[in-house]
Amino acid sequence: MDRKFAAAPAMTRQFALRELDFCRRKIDALLPRFPDCFPGANTEGLRYPAERENIEWTTSFFSGMLWLLYQHTGDETYLPTLERHLERFYDRVERPGNIDTHDLGFLYSLSCYPAILLKKDERARSCFLKAADYLKARYFDKAGILQAWGDLTDPENRGRMIIDCLLNLPLLYQAARLTGDERYYDMAYTHARQAQRYLVRADNSTYHTFYMDVTTGVPRFGATAQGYSDSSCWARGQVWGVYGFTLSYRHTRDRSFLDTACRLLDYYLARLPADYVNYWDLCFTEGDQPRDSSSTAIVCCGILELLKHLPLTHPRRRTYENALTLMMTSLAKRYTTRDLPDADGLLAHGVYSIPHQRGVDESTIWGDYYYVEALYRLLYGDCDYWS
Ligand code: GLY
Repeated sequence: MDRKFAAAPAMTRQFALRELDFCRRKIDALLPRFPDCFPGANTEGLRYPAERENIEWTTSFFSGMLWLLYQHTGDETYLPTLERHLERFYDRVERPGNIDTHDLGFLYSLSCYPAILLKKDERARSCFLKAADYLKARYFDKAGILQAWGDLTDPENRGRMIIDCLLNLPLLYQAARLTGDERYYDMAYTHARQAQRYLVRADNSTYHTFYMDVTTGVPRFGATAQGYSDSSCWARGQVWGVYGFTLSYRHTRDRSFLDTACRLLDYYLARLPADYVNYWDLCFTEGDQPRDSSSTAIVCCGILELLKHLPLTHPRRRTYENALTLMMTSLAKRYTTRDLPDADGLLAHGVYSIPHQRGVDESTIWGDYYYVEALYRLLYGDCDYWS
């Protein structure tokens, strides 16, 4: 086993309960400020601005946290806010606007899907399936991929897939299960295979994005949007890969996805600095570049999902368990905002995008969400929203 991960203190149920309690207090304090609008994607000066329109890819993460807290506590006071937010998600697909994105998965798996699971809500089901249809319309048959961003005719984005999309595939897998229509499943599965083929490099690092020729199906080239360079490995992309390929394994039982997730995770773990919280790009392993705590929270969820599927005798299992403990305890100890009473977020020191100079050394709403999800998974063993 790598020396770096040889020893880890036991992570107890008390740890998860205590951390969830901290998260709950912070989120409860935010609730009155976002009754029917959304916290922005990232804090500005550690405060979340209010987003009045439901146009970003990030608006569902607040709902996701409220659903998890509702499940954890049984407290019905979360429901009125959740219902008002759901209306905004119904609106987004019923009067289509701001749907030219693959991020419909993040948006609807964390808003409507829990309402289907927990409340058997018929309108949520219908809007969830509408969202799946909009995502399905982004599929290019010849290339076998879902285009990530923008209008399908936009030359800048045409045929461009991105690694983040792996987290949008559960929407299609779930739609296939809800309707019995295998086309959703086939598209998700084919996209995941193409992502595995072209976004993953020979050294197990990843491209953030990759262009395909959609008329011939021929692969073109990889390029970054949020990483340091086209040839570097953007940290959040790598962890979307770890979690996303594991979820595709969960839905398809194709073992090659599990192997890919392990290889991506090994690359990532080898580049962690001494406090086990990654820099924003994995080309940095020491120094004073910004960290991205949100990636660490995401990979913890990925490891928790991965450990459910790896055989008990898997040679890397112990390393992954120890790494998980070391990362979660480091986040709790050094990255939460518990000593910053005026901060809105849960995790400080996240990054949205360095190349765009957006949300640098701030909280991100997805970093907060995945921290809560990881704690929830530690306590209850699973999170059904992606399954
Ligand atoms: N999916 C967009 C991001 O991770 O920034």
